[in-house]
Amino acid sequence: MNDTQASHAAHGAGHELETGKAYEPKVVAYCCTYCAYTAADLAGSMRLSYSPQVRIIKTLCTGKIDALLLLKAFEEGADAVFVAGCNIGDCHFLEGNLRAIQVVAHAKHLLAEIGLEPERLEFFHIPASAGPLFAQRANQMVERAMALGPNPLRFSAHEKYGKKLQREPDSHPALPPARFGRLVTEAEREKGATPVRTPEGTIPGA
Ligand code: FES
Repeated sequence: MNDTQASHAAHGAGHELETGKAYEPKVVAYCCTYCAYTAADLAGSMRLSYSPQVRIIKTLCTGKIDALLLLKAFEEGADAVFVAGCNIGDCHFLEGNLRAIQVVAHAKHLLAEIGLEPERLEFFHIPASAGPLFAQRANQMVERAMALGPNPLRFSAHEKYGKKLQREPDSHPALPPARFGRLVTEAEREKGATPVRTPEGTIPGA
């Protein structure tokens, strides 16, 4: 366990999940491929340590993110989510990052309305050359998720996916085994072979 992980473990020591396991936050990072994703890659190449609790999802541009996608991450059990895009003026799609800032602000309002802390969601500008900044932001969000505790929706996610689905027994009668006639090749047809009888009928010209 490195220093970062040890410090996170110390912070989250008080939380225990309903499943009996110690709380390990799940942080989802939507990263623009041109900047934040490259920065995350660079952080790895520079051997900078950041929390393994961060799950990176590469997007072409943060302008592609919508509020529903952010809320879906929380519904699926993420404890914190961040969107990381290019600096203002550097977006390859001109205004994608500006749109993303608005979407994140809107989603924060929606989180507050359903009773989740808006601080669980954040937008960051992370240029491609900023590997250390990516590591810092990732750790910051993990620490925040530790301080806020588990996302209450996590338990419904556990209910949803943690147990096997109950399936009604199949009420349909078993289908009869399929029976197919013998395949007749073109060469056999040309030779004028005798007709082939199949359960579905006779193949003409065979
Ligand atoms: Fe990076 Fe749009 S291309 S935020």
